[in-house]
Amino acid sequence: MADEIRTDYTEAEVTEAEVAVHWGEEDYYYPPMHFIAQANMTDETIYERFSEENFPECFKEYADLLDWDQYWHTTLDTSNPPFWKWFVGGKLNACYNCVDRHLPKYRNKAAFIFVPEPEDEPHLVLTYQELFVRVNEVAAMLQSLGLKAGDRVTIHMPMVLELPITMLACARLGVIHSVVFAGFSGKACAERAVDSGSKILITMDGYYRNGKMLDHKVKADEAVQVAAEMGSPIEKVLVWRRYPRQYQSKAPMVEGRDVFVDDLLKAHRGARVKPVSMPAEAPLFLMYTSGTTGKPKGHVHSTGGYLAYTAWTSKNIQDIHPEDVYWCMADIGWITGHSYIVYGPLAVAATSVIYEGVPTYPDAGRPWRIAEQLGVNIFHTSPTAIRMLRKADPEAPLRYNYEFKHMTTVGEPIEPDVWRWYFHVVGKERAVIVDTWWQTETGGFLCTTIPALHPMKPGSAGPALPGIYAAILDDEGNEIPPGAGKAGNIVIRNPWPSITQGIWGDPDRFINTYYAKYNKDPNSKDWRDWPYFAGDAATQAADGYFRILGRVDDVINVAGHRLGTKELESAVLTVEAVAEAAVVPRHDEVKGRVPDVYASLKPGYEPSEEIRQEIVRAIETIIGKIARPKNVYIVPDLPKTRSGKIMRRVLAAISNGHDVGDVTTLANPEVVEVIRQMVQGDE
Ligand code: PRX
Repeated sequence: MADEIRTDYTEAEVTEAEVAVHWGEEDYYYPPMHFIAQANMTDETIYERFSEENFPECFKEYADLLDWDQYWHTTLDTSNPPFWKWFVGGKLNACYNCVDRHLPKYRNKAAFIFVPEPEDEPHLVLTYQELFVRVNEVAAMLQSLGLKAGDRVTIHMPMVLELPITMLACARLGVIHSVVFAGFSGKACAERAVDSGSKILITMDGYYRNGKMLDHKVKADEAVQVAAEMGSPIEKVLVWRRYPRQYQSKAPMVEGRDVFVDDLLKAHRGARVKPVSMPAEAPLFLMYTSGTTGKPKGHVHSTGGYLAYTAWTSKNIQDIHPEDVYWCMADIGWITGHSYIVYGPLAVAATSVIYEGVPTYPDAGRPWRIAEQLGVNIFHTSPTAIRMLRKADPEAPLRYNYEFKHMTTVGEPIEPDVWRWYFHVVGKERAVIVDTWWQTETGGFLCTTIPALHPMKPGSAGPALPGIYAAILDDEGNEIPPGAGKAGNIVIRNPWPSITQGIWGDPDRFINTYYAKYNKDPNSKDWRDWPYFAGDAATQAADGYFRILGRVDDVINVAGHRLGTKELESAVLTVEAVAEAAVVPRHDEVKGRVPDVYASLKPGYEPSEEIRQEIVRAIETIIGKIARPKNVYIVPDLPKTRSGKIMRRVLAAISNGHDVGDVTTLANPEVVEVIRQMVQGDE
């Protein structure tokens, strides 16, 4: 099924109104000299080197950061647009590049430092040598279960060292991993496992969050049951134990199906597995993300192009040097964690911190305590986390003795006011900030300042990266020039190495979602005819900096997590009493956006607290707690056009206290006022 771009409502409309009110003048902040003096990227000719006339060969510089078993013969193959192939003919192994090749120099350096949630448990340090040993053992174990290059494995694990170890073990064998965020429900995990054709699910018994040990294995049991109902059984469940030999779950192990990983590993102590040399364009992993239909899209990321791009950006945008201590607070279950906790940082021999829990438990001093204890000097987080920490304890960073040289914000627009707190209080005016705009589909950063070369501008992501030819187009495909003061759709006019290779099993949906809008000639082999439509509204200032306004499709960005409104609506419709449902984003001071549910009931049902609770429960069990709605309004009817289309734009205006505009042409205009009074009172 193709994604449709709906025109009756855009989140950007809501956001733009806020932009006009809150976001003021253009002010620049300059990188401090001490940062510039040590920065990896200070070459002012970089944009010339990556200009269109040097495309695509300029990206050789990216690929040269990696060790290749066989060098490529074609930098970019455009013979089957828009399925671009990078570094064709080349062969490499991602695990080898992230682990083995660092051993001669960095064997005894920390690759990962794990910070458990209970503060009385010690940090765990995994050196590159120890990572090598453990990845090899797990790879041998996976191999003994019959897994081989090209097979898919679903990993539903929390933030623990065993997660990157498992991912890298898959990569060592050329097995395609599909990591599902641990906060997703068993059912959501099953849908993704079924779509990818995984027969093996790797999970963990439990993990800590907010002071509680969560039972995670129960989700695996549900996933197995749902996958069987969907006709695509999961045959084996491998269960890591949070504490070896102490099982943390109430769910019994199922004979013949469930196995403890620590038991299995006994047979593979000290094993070594030769890294499998994979073609550059072979899939490294799948990452599912929400789109505008109810079904999540499994994006396929390649081995060579993806790793080259994340390595280059980790080195030059994150400014990671091997001697730094780098901490990205994202979850590995999202693309940020894949690209900028695991693959990019390890490819450049970083020391990467992984923490369990949440930033504000046991108190909002936790991130700064961790930074102080571990000597973190590069810090990477989201606007939601920054807003949350500022709200909980705005002075906390001042009480801790740490010093960041570099900070990142990612995933949502950041309000200039929040940016300034991040800069002055968290960064103590000593750190540069990069605001990196990108997506699951893009694999790595697309728009950001290069930290030693550009001044920062609060609320703006910055110019496009070298070799990324970004532009703003109107709906007809005309370019809106920089400085025009007009919003439009941000597009990337060219392919780049880490671009998604497509949607697993659905090439048509891929073309329709990202290319149909602006491609005028489907037979063209010229990449210039295939602008990538990102689904975000943006403006570009005269200085070339992009400011991202928000999604133009039915995706809600909740706390930096992408949720499809259709997925939520489908969940609501599973409640027996519900006739129709619409989900719209409401502005939230901390999370950016939160979902509001509007539902009408079937005849014979009366609105009640029970039905409201049932709706919330349906969303939590079908998707997960991250999708929990802020409000559930049971309304007499949903506003509709005469052709029966639900007017989500009107509901979004009501949720956000905006003017609903002219509704006289609707089929049922009277219901708008009824809903408005219900939501806003009659002030
Ligand atoms: O709307 C944009 C927003 O997050 C979306 C991508 O979400 P996801 O695929 O989950 O990847 C998140 C991590 C990259 C985008 O379409 N977004 C991402 N980065 C920014 C942003 N919005 C504003 N500023 C950013 N820096």
